[in-house]
Amino acid sequence: MSLQTYQLMVKQRFSQLLPGGPSRAMAVSGLLLLLFYVFSFNYWSSQDHSDLHLPFAHKWRAWSSGGTNTDPPTNLSHIVFGIVGSLKTWKGRKAYLESWWRPNISRGYLFLDGRPDNESLCPYTCPQILINEDIRKWKIYPLLKYPVSVRVAWSIVEAFRQGDNDVRWYVIADDDTVLFMDNIVQVLSKYDHTKYYYLGASSESILSNVYMSFEMGFGGAGFALSYPLVVAMAKKLDGCIKRYPNMWSDHLIYICILDLGVAISRQKGFHQIDLHDNIAGFLSSHPQSPILSLHHINVVDPIFPSMNRSESISHLMKPAGVDQSRLLQQTICYQREKNWSISVSWGYSVHIYETAVPRYVLQMPIETFRPWIKNAKWPMFMFNTRPAKNDPCETPHWFFFESIESENKDVFVTTYTRAEKRRLSPCSLGRNHSADRINRVQVFSPVKTRLEAGRAECCDVVSLSDNTTTVRIRPCMEAEEIAIV
Ligand SMILES: *[C@@H]1O[C@H](CO)[C@@H](O)[C@H](O)[C@H]1NC(C)=O
Ligand SMILES: *[C@@H]1O[C@H](CO)[C@@H](O)[C@H](O)[C@H]1NC(C)=O
Ligand SMILES: *[C@@H]1O[C@H](CO)[C@@H](O)[C@H](O)[C@H]1NC(C)=O
Ligand SMILES: *[C@@H]1O[C@H](CO)[C@@H](O)[C@H](O)[C@H]1NC(C)=O
Ligand SMILES: *[C@@H]1O[C@H](CO)[C@@H](O)[C@H](O)[C@H]1NC(C)=O
Ligand SMILES: *[C@@H]1O[C@H](CO)[C@@H](O)[C@H](O)[C@H]1NC(C)=O
Ligand SMILES: *[C@@H]1O[C@H](CO)[C@@H](O)[C@H](O)[C@H]1NC(C)=O
Repeated sequence: MSLQTYQLMVKQRFSQLLPGGPSRAMAVSGLLLLLFYVFSFNYWSSQDHSDLHLPFAHKWRAWSSGGTNTDPPTNLSHIVFGIVGSLKTWKGRKAYLESWWRPNISRGYLFLDGRPDNESLCPYTCPQILINEDIRKWKIYPLLKYPVSVRVAWSIVEAFRQGDNDVRWYVIADDDTVLFMDNIVQVLSKYDHTKYYYLGASSESILSNVYMSFEMGFGGAGFALSYPLVVAMAKKLDGCIKRYPNMWSDHLIYICILDLGVAISRQKGFHQIDLHDNIAGFLSSHPQSPILSLHHINVVDPIFPSMNRSESISHLMKPAGVDQSRLLQQTICYQREKNWSISVSWGYSVHIYETAVPRYVLQMPIETFRPWIKNAKWPMFMFNTRPAKNDPCETPHWFFFESIESENKDVFVTTYTRAEKRRLSPCSLGRNHSADRINRVQVFSPVKTRLEAGRAECCDVVSLSDNTTTVRIRPCMEAEEIAIV
């Protein structure tokens, strides 16, 4: 809408409203407000440079967030992690934090509501422990609906008040969240840290988003706030708590950020994991985006068979420590002679199907998990799923990550072994080739090639011995399709 049209609208409203009536006073004051808006708008646009007229404003914002900033690239040293737990939950979660924390390299704090016992301390292997401010002394305290969750939200301000130097981002998560720091650095470095940014993700569960908000960054999944946004939060969060004393922590943070005029920048790699039981199906069809976090690892089944929870997280950290950009990225190839489909979730699992299953099907997670909220009705998830069936043509043979080695300086080889026999007859559609004898899959991948944004990689089945399938991952060729043709 041009300014002229807008002024015309004001004039028309003026003539409609003035004839009087009971609402005249209100109408006039509303009009004054409108006029004030119009004049101040005029003022600002005449002050600005001529190329900043309204139609171009969005373009200008796009330029300025696209990295006109000349600071050196963002690295891990620019991030402060704020991990929030409680004495009640922290026991037994030390191993999760230790699995991803980099002592003396990553910066941050673990916030608790009291001093943990000596066995739960980890002076060198965890972030420094800080005890949260006692909010029971606050005047507002009796009005808070979820005091514990306000303590959690307040940790952002407390992390900020530590006064760390040269901080560009604060990343906040729970003590049962595993973070993938290399990927987080990659993602954050694409944003201008001198602007207000709120990076996060929704829950996988539709109902969680309905109860909270589709527009918020779930706290367990973790979210990132740029430094200037945290400066603003440090000034405004207490007022915001007074305005909204009934809100749950991450919801409260979202609402306060929204009141500062900032909306979420969605990141597909933060995972709230509002799911139950076995999330292997979810992790085997990860969206094409770097994995940033995994939450609720103390709730879901261990992610690798025959390992406990902390062992399986440490196990996932082996490939994560070597090439995080490729972790869980799905690569699909087809073996023509046998008519098999092979889906690799790098560093986690390999599926072999005895038929040609198209990519659009393989990218939907197999529903090995249950919804977060019991008795939830369909649709339950924020993504499409495939039912976990017992059909020889639709049920894959499952292999899980075992080890990673470097073949030479340019190539890594990850090995995946069969978890258990499939116990189904071969798929009799087409070629009827059973994969029962395969008990190992080897995947060769190039060393740390930065993955091309928006495009998957391709692979070829390079050999098929009696019991081992070997696959080589490579960049896709121009206009190459991933399909059996
Ligand atoms: C991170 O960036 C800073 C510049 O802001 C630089 O001084 C430092 O050496 C970098 N650290 C690493 C590990 O690259
Ligand atoms: C971290 O630094 C402390 C003190 O400087 C030192 O004692 C400790 O060995 C270091 N830890 C690692 C893993 O480098
Ligand atoms: C815990 O450690 C501290 C300092 O090392 C010591 O003073 C204290 O007695 C220990 N507490 C228990 C219960 O062992
Ligand atoms: C998980 O397994 C490891 C290695 O077997 C063991 O040290 C650890 O205590 C186990 N953790 C739990 C919670 O059982
Ligand atoms: C390969 O699998 C597809 C999908 O199940 C099937 O339709 C097709 O007939 C099979 N092709 C051959 C040559 O076996
Ligand atoms: C498929 O192979 C199995 C044994 O491998 C055999 O029993 C079955 O008859 C075959 N089916 C077809 C349709 O060829
Ligand atoms: C695969 O077969 C080869 C011989 O063909 C054998 O040496 C090897 O142990 C087998 N591997 C596994 C994992 O069974």
